[in-house]
Order: sequence, then C-alpha cells, then structure tokens
Amino acid sequence: MKYKSFGKTGVKVSELILGTWYLPNGIFKGKREVSKENSIKLIRRAYDLGINFFDTADVYRGVYERDALSQNFDRVGFAEKILGEALSGYDRESFVVSTKVMGRTGPLVNDSGANRKHVRRAIRTSLERLQMDYIDFYIIHAPDEVSGIDQIARTMNLLEDEGLILHYGISNHNALDLVKYLNLKYFAPFEPPDFIQDKYNLIERELEGTNIKIAEDNSLASMIYSPLAQGVLAGRYLDKDEGNSRLEYEKWFSKTDKEGHENKGYDLHEKYKSALEELREMASSKGASMSELALSWLMHRGKYIFPILGATRLEQLEENVKSTDITLSMSEVGDLGKLFETKRG
Ligand SMILES: NC(=O)c1ccc[n+]([C@@H]2O[C@H](COP(=O)([O-])OP(=O)(O)OC[C@H]3O[C@@H](n4cnc5c(N)ncnc54)[C@H](OP(=O)(O)O)[C@@H]3O)[C@@H](O)[C@H]2O)c1
Repeated sequence: MKYKSFGKTGVKVSELILGTWYLPNGIFKGKREVSKENSIKLIRRAYDLGINFFDTADVYRGVYERDALSQNFDRVGFAEKILGEALSGYDRESFVVSTKVMGRTGPLVNDSGANRKHVRRAIRTSLERLQMDYIDFYIIHAPDEVSGIDQIARTMNLLEDEGLILHYGISNHNALDLVKYLNLKYFAPFEPPDFIQDKYNLIERELEGTNIKIAEDNSLASMIYSPLAQGVLAGRYLDKDEGNSRLEYEKWFSKTDKEGHENKGYDLHEKYKSALEELREMASSKGASMSELALSWLMHRGKYIFPILGATRLEQLEENVKSTDITLSMSEVGDLGKLFETKRG
C-alpha cells in the first residue's frame, strides 16, 4: 500500500479508504442484519493490508439504507459502533477516521441538520460510538439549505480549535456551494473545507469538470464514493447475479421500485452492458479484474483522488486492494474513459 498526502492537509493516508455504508450482512432469523463478526474481520483485514483510512457516517446502519428514510432509528450509528470496536485495539495514531453529520438520526426536530445545536450533539455521539476522542476528518454529509455556510464553517473551525476534529469537508454539495465555501476566507476569518466527498466513477462522471476539478485546482483532496458504481463496474451483474447483492435486496437499486414505478436509479448494469463487456476484456488483457482496473483508472485521474472501497465480503476487499499495483499509460486512461463516454445518452 502506498501513502499520499491527503490534499494540502499533509496527513499521509493510504491510496484507498475503506467505507462502512454497507457491511457484511445476511439473513439472520429471517431478517437482514449486519454480521458484526464478519464486519470486524473485514475492517481488521483492511488495516492489515495497509489501509489506514476508514470512512463512516452517523446515519450509517451498515445495511438497509431504506430505513434511513423511515422513522426506525434503532440501527442508526451501528456502522460507527462496529468501526470503533474493530479499531479499538490499534494505536489511535496509526489510522485516520472520517464521519459525517447532517442526516436524520432520531425523531426530535433537531435530530438533523448542520446547525450548531445538532452538530454539537452529533459530534459527542459519534465520538462515543467510535470510542475516540477526536475525528480526523469531519464531513457535512449534504447541503443544509437553512443553516448559513458562515455558521457551519465557524462551527467546524470551533470544533477544530477544541481538538474534537482535525479538518472538515463537504459532501454532495454543488459546485456553486463549494466555491462559496472556498471564497469565505475573503470575507470572514474562517478556514474553508480541506476536502470533498463526492460520487465519481467510470460511468458516473457528472462532477468531473466541476467539483473534482475545483478540488484539484485548490489542492483539496477528493474522497470518491461509489467508485465501482455500487458493484456494476466490478461486473457484479454481467453474469447471473450470484445472490446477496445490493441489487437483490435494495429495491431502489433496481429499474423499478416495489410499486412497479420507473426508478431513476441503477439500471446502469443494463444500460452499459456492452461497455462493461469491453471493460472486462481490457481488464483480462492486463491480467487484472474489472474492479481493479476501474479503481486504478480513478487513482490515475489526479494525485488527490482517494476512492472509498465498499465491500461486503473479504474477497472483494482483497481483490480491490490489488488495484494499487496497476500502472496505466496515458493512452490506457484515455481509452478507459472513452469506453463509457461514447455509450452515454
Ligand atoms: N457521502 C455520501 O453521500 C456517500 C454515499 C455513498 C457511499 N459513501 C461512502 O463510500 C463508500 C463506498 O461506496 P459504495 O459501497 O457505493 O462503493 P462501490 O465500490 O461503488 O460499491 C461497493 C459494492 O460493490 C460490490 N463490489 C465491490 N467490490 C467487488 C468485487 N471485487 N467483485 C464484485 N463485487 C464487488 C459489492 O456489492 P455487493 O455488496 O452487492 O456484493 C460492494 O458492496 C461507502 O461505504 C461510504 O463510506 C458516501
């Protein structure tokens, strides 16, 4: 594993990050549940493989994200708890952790948002679950349309001054918001975010010319989520789905929802079938797997690009980590990029 500076923060982190949105899971007593034992094994295996950066969020349950939209808060924070337990035996200075605030974590009116009241409570709760006394990288999970960005930036800077967090970043914001954050320093003595966390992969390239470019131009690190388009780029659905996949149990992930309505989400595996077949061929000619090539492509896109791996099985993690050994020529990077570009629309 190689280590790079996390943008201009100077903190050295592994080229790959392990995410905890979905953790190893299965049907237990008729209900889909996270397997705590397998999740801890996965996190520790990642650590042993040299990954020193772990991403989570206060709202992550490790499975069944649909509950996030419901009033069932029983499993809120489960991913943070498991991550905390898995890392509890290691030297705190040997790894970095990011977590997020903004999403709804409970039934009270102030159980969501990026306002100071909620953030103050959320950071305490996250630290408790993680069994840590500071967060390396704290993230505003999504834009808060009500709380002003000057309040949010100042709150983040206060948490930094108090040592509760080291740096903050923003996720799922549009380019205009990102620029507003970056320009704050010209109008007020606030430090802007040091990184972003956004979706970017060979297929979903909407932010390539906006957030990702702005981040690069400003030496901000880009934490990349869904680098494999949720498994599609790993070829998960090219052949017969071998089961227990996100597509199988997450209705929003398939073309139609459970009422049979057209779903805007993930029909990517159908839409890009021929490009995916080509990716498979290119991968095999390089002696690599599809996921290794797709992840390597991302890492070749910029020096501050950090893919966040999602893995529900040890073998997926082990395969994906091998992507750090691949070197691509400029023309290979270009060819891979074109593969999906020409098939869009
Ligand atoms: N900021 C945000 O709003 C946000 C949003 C989404 C995610 N994230 C972060 O980003 C992380 C990664 O996101 P993601 O899970 O969507 O990433 P992803 O890498 O696009 O998808 C991961 C899924 O792909 C499949 N997969 C991975 N490697 C594979 C392999 N080698 N062979 C076959 N299938 C493979 C697995 O699906 P199956 O489980 O179906 O086998 C796995 O769960 C999350 O854990 C979270 O930390 C952040």
